Amino acid sequence: MKRWNTVAIVGVGLIGGSIGLALRQRGLAERVVGIGRRQTSLRTARRAGAVTSTTTDLGKGVAEADFVVVCSPVGRIADHVCQAAQFCPAGTLITDAGSTKQVIVEALDGKLPRGCRFLGSHPLAGSEKSGASNAMADLFEGRLAILTPTKNTRAEDFDLLEHFWSSLGSVVVQMTAEEHDRALALSSHLPHAVAAALAASVPEACFRFSGPGLLDTTRIASGDPDLWTQIFCQNRANVLAALDAFLRHLTALGDAVRQGDVEPLKRLLALAKKNRDALGS
Ligand SMILES: NC(=O)c1ccc[n+]([C@@H]2O[C@H](COP(=O)([O-])OP(=O)(O)OC[C@H]3O[C@@H](n4cnc5c(N)ncnc54)[C@H](OP(=O)(O)O)[C@@H]3O)[C@@H](O)[C@H]2O)c1
Repeated sequence: MKRWNTVAIVGVGLIGGSIGLALRQRGLAERVVGIGRRQTSLRTARRAGAVTSTTTDLGKGVAEADFVVVCSPVGRIADHVCQAAQFCPAGTLITDAGSTKQVIVEALDGKLPRGCRFLGSHPLAGSEKSGASNAMADLFEGRLAILTPTKNTRAEDFDLLEHFWSSLGSVVVQMTAEEHDRALALSSHLPHAVAAALAASVPEACFRFSGPGLLDTTRIASGDPDLWTQIFCQNRANVLAALDAFLRHLTALGDAVRQGDVEPLKRLLALAKKNRDALGS
């Protein structure tokens, strides 16, 4: 396993903190520098053992990094990568953990100064929780990490990043940024939109009647509204297409219920059961 001298993590929340914890607990990095905007969050990251030092100064934080991972909300990632590229050692590889890829990759691919390169990542791991206090060293174990190389990506950068995520326990796959955003609109962004709409539809007077069904189907609606607003806005076209597909099914279900049409209703519920059972737990 490669041992890094200094890994800089911009944004040490749930994902950044979990990367830091995993690196430290597996002995994969000598130093992990946590870079953030609020001292309270940085203190939390230090206390959790996710980082060896912290700073609110991005330039200082990346100055000695041999690898930079940007784990801020998607709307801030391109800017943070550009800032990191100005101050990190020349020729440094920079990646991110953002839940969207196309806008970020288009803004950065082949455009960084001083020989620095960006290669996008997205670990399919996490939860509705946020902050380094919820970080877990085993968060990435057995989970997919998607890399989104382009025609500008060097083979050695891809190999290094593949090694990085594998060393945290992830299974690495590659897609284009466009394929990533189309697929994740359906597998992640649509579920969040539906859970949010569902949670918003239940009036407070009914809260005391909530059972496991409502709790299971709305868990992810507890995710950070700011983080998710940015994700929906960055992946607008794909999210809208996914919502259209969902609404077609919902309308068909509503029509069948309205008309007391038992057969189409059963067919839809049977398809839903088949798909859900195939997803596993
Ligand atoms: N949560 C998931 O399930 C999941 C899964 C895969 C990928 N991701 C992606 O990973 C990234 C981080 O998500 P997370 O769940 O770790 O969120 P998080 O726990 O809220 O952490 C976000 C971090 O970014 C910092 N930050 C927030 N707004 C900022 C701003 N405007 N400028 C500078 N720093 C800012 C926060 O610092 P402060 O605490 O000081 O505000 C915090 O350290 C996102 O891009 C998300 O799309 C999330």
